[in-house]
Amino acid sequence: MHVHFDDTIIHIDRDRLKEIQLHRMQKSIRHAYDNVAHYRATFKEAGVTPDDLQSLDDLAKFPFLTKQDMRNNYPYGLTAVPMEDVVRTHASSGTTGQATVVTYTKRDIDMWADVVARSIRAAGGNSSDTVHVAYGYGLFTGGLGAHYGAERAGCNVIPMSGGATARQVDLIMDFKPTIIMVTPSYMLALADGFRKAGIDPRDTSLRIAIHGAEPWTEEMRREIEETFDLDAVDIYGLSEVIGPGVGQEFASTKDGPTIWEDHFYPEIINPETGEVLPDGEEGELVFTSLTKEAFPIIRYRTRDLTRLLPPTACSMRRMAKITGRSDDMMIIRGVNVFPMQIEDLILKDSRLVPHYYCEIRREGPMDTLTVVGEAAEHAADENTRIAASQQLAHAIKATIGVSSTVVIKEPNAIPRSEGKAKRVHDLRNK
Ligand code: DLL
Repeated sequence: MHVHFDDTIIHIDRDRLKEIQLHRMQKSIRHAYDNVAHYRATFKEAGVTPDDLQSLDDLAKFPFLTKQDMRNNYPYGLTAVPMEDVVRTHASSGTTGQATVVTYTKRDIDMWADVVARSIRAAGGNSSDTVHVAYGYGLFTGGLGAHYGAERAGCNVIPMSGGATARQVDLIMDFKPTIIMVTPSYMLALADGFRKAGIDPRDTSLRIAIHGAEPWTEEMRREIEETFDLDAVDIYGLSEVIGPGVGQEFASTKDGPTIWEDHFYPEIINPETGEVLPDGEEGELVFTSLTKEAFPIIRYRTRDLTRLLPPTACSMRRMAKITGRSDDMMIIRGVNVFPMQIEDLILKDSRLVPHYYCEIRREGPMDTLTVVGEAAEHAADENTRIAASQQLAHAIKATIGVSSTVVIKEPNAIPRSEGKAKRVHDLRNK
């Protein structure tokens, strides 16, 4: 089949890439400044105008855009084109407060399809693949973003959406998709669904899983790859920037998502001071869009913590797998704890399945951590569960350095996520 898109730019010479980035960044900053009152105001406050961007490093002079700024401009205040040119609105509900709203022009949707199509190819897919999309369709960008990209890549797309696990299992057996796009946590629920139907998950037609929308560990990758006998790769994105497809891990290297730098310019900053950090250092990921029309973002703070890494499979830089969002960081007696650190330990114990959550409570002046996990079928009896919980509490103390209470429930006691899993339950104000 003839496929109408070209991803040769991913192998561009880096000096040439930087010229393109600078040119696009100047245009994008000018576009935001000319058409969005918020940018005019914050640029003025910072004492900069679009003319101050003469090199890529000059970007550091410009103010950040935060999630709060998006809320303050709800719903369309940051849209930079006449509303008649907007063809789509997506929103993410977030955990607190007002939804954040993102708009798209026809060309924005087109660019989005391109970067997701590129992502599917980097994941090892091509136009002869059938793609089962189990990310949710709707205001969430996962389903529709994956859908348009898979279509652009020339694949046969099955727009399943999330949920209805038994039906997902049936359709995967009947339609024989070769690629699945789904959150890693829902992939595990699907594994349970196959087993419940008496099917070994290794016996499906699936050969590639493209997982994102939530953090997942290398241990989880191994678990999924082994359970399903396929290659599991990481797709990164966020609605504010475009949706899925901001970055994609290559199946050939499996070394973290490559950022599609010709459209999304990354920086890493010290989250406390806002200072730009050199490549390789860990901090908060910040994006500036280079080609977006309806919703240009200048230095958007993602709250995702990672590092920028040198290119491998193509000429664009990579990001390290996301270890945590600053939002999910728990501070327990002064120690910073991320759910992913706990996930790592849970996956090392064969008595436990990879379904879990953390609860934070306040007792007196101290925050306390409870980890709730679940036993595998073969470890369901009470004594085994108690032994496993004691051992996990020890491991958490020894490797992370905090005391916790661990509760290991019976098999299937933890509700399965159908999309993003909620790993932290904050009960401090309840
Ligand atoms: O989750 C877009 C998406 C859909 C990405 C499907 C990949 C696949 P939001 O709902 O706006 O958009 O949530 C964005 O999810 O800031 C990260 O904290 C987290 N996230 C997304 N992808 C990954 C990933 C979509 N691969 C937020 N690894 C981001 C870790 C991820 N975290």
